[in-house]
Amino acid sequence: MEKVLITGGLGTIGSCITAQCVKRGYDVTIIDDYSIGVENNLLYYLNDEEVKKIKIIKGSILNEKLVDEHMKDKGLCFHMAALLGTLRVVRHPYEMIKTNINGTHNVLEGAKKHNVKIVVPSTSMVYGNNPKIMVSENDDCFVGGNLNKSLWWYAITKMADECTTRALLFDESITALIIRPFNIVGPIQSALAGFVIPRFISSAIMGKSIPVYGSGEQTRSFVWTEDFVEALFKLIDKNVWNETVNIGSTYEIKIIDLAKRIIEKTKSGSEIIYVNPDRLFKGQFVEINGRIPCIKKLTDLTGTTDNDFKNVDFILDKFIEYYKTVKDENIWTYKPDY
Ligand SMILES: NC(=O)c1ccc[n+]([C@@H]2O[C@H](COP(=O)([O-])OP(=O)(O)OC[C@H]3O[C@@H](n4cnc5c(N)ncnc54)[C@H](O)[C@@H]3O)[C@@H](O)[C@H]2O)c1
Repeated sequence: MEKVLITGGLGTIGSCITAQCVKRGYDVTIIDDYSIGVENNLLYYLNDEEVKKIKIIKGSILNEKLVDEHMKDKGLCFHMAALLGTLRVVRHPYEMIKTNINGTHNVLEGAKKHNVKIVVPSTSMVYGNNPKIMVSENDDCFVGGNLNKSLWWYAITKMADECTTRALLFDESITALIIRPFNIVGPIQSALAGFVIPRFISSAIMGKSIPVYGSGEQTRSFVWTEDFVEALFKLIDKNVWNETVNIGSTYEIKIIDLAKRIIEKTKSGSEIIYVNPDRLFKGQFVEINGRIPCIKKLTDLTGTTDNDFKNVDFILDKFIEYYKTVKDENIWTYKPDY
């Protein structure tokens, strides 16, 4: 039986990967510090009996010994633990840097020492201010970001993780797959981290104004978590290692249209307000006006195309359905203290 370690296995992507592994009959261990992840997230995909099969270790990837201990008998590691999301990155930049760089270093060291294949997520943010709208894996990363803005530091931590992974690949001391996800979303995604869909839907449901950053003309493309995980497992099943691969959709929606679509779908009386994110985030905010992935490499390797990704209407309907079941609205009302 495949023995798998999933760091951050209670988070948005990690819990969906966990579910896929359980359904495949793998022996799954999670390390999660519960900073954002909760065990309930697993119940979105699995029943109680399935969740009971998972070994959940409450701990941090910053604990080198703990990582080593749980890496040693595994064959595969999905390293999903990280600190991310606009609100959390701006609020906890040093913790973010330690988690994403030192934590990843520990996980990579463990994988190297125990010869465990590892999936390392980067981010679309590594393309920085590259003016290209559609970006490929070999395009320039981090062109022209202002280093005084802490949101770029997140991108830098992910570039550091990519470089560390590539250096270990160069030494032929690990087997790794680097993925660059573009806006992977699911209803369990925490609103506390500042992601746009949870922010808009929770505001719409509570009848509060919906804050759109800037003009709202900026675009995003979203991928349903289960579709992302399916694409990722196709890469693994086809034994694609030692590569860097974009995973994302090329279907774009303007943020203002997203807000309007959510108001319509929730039948909300909320009004849209335009806010200056630079003021809100005290100059630490970075806006990407539009970015879509070139997924030719993913298609060539796995056959996955845009048609395999559900559209934004499906995604929003699933979020709304889920939010109606949530009893405690406090989980939506995080207020950044700046
Ligand atoms: N969701 C996206 O759109 C997206 C886009 C680009 C990259 N990524 C990357 O994919 C990975 C997974 O993202 P996600 O959306 O599932 O994030 P998430 O925030 O939903 O989940 C991260 C999980 O890691 C846990 N965690 C945080 N710090 C930890 C620590 N020190 N030790 C142990 N656990 C810790 C959290 O409790 C949480 O369960 C991350 O590396 C992220 O940077 C995600």
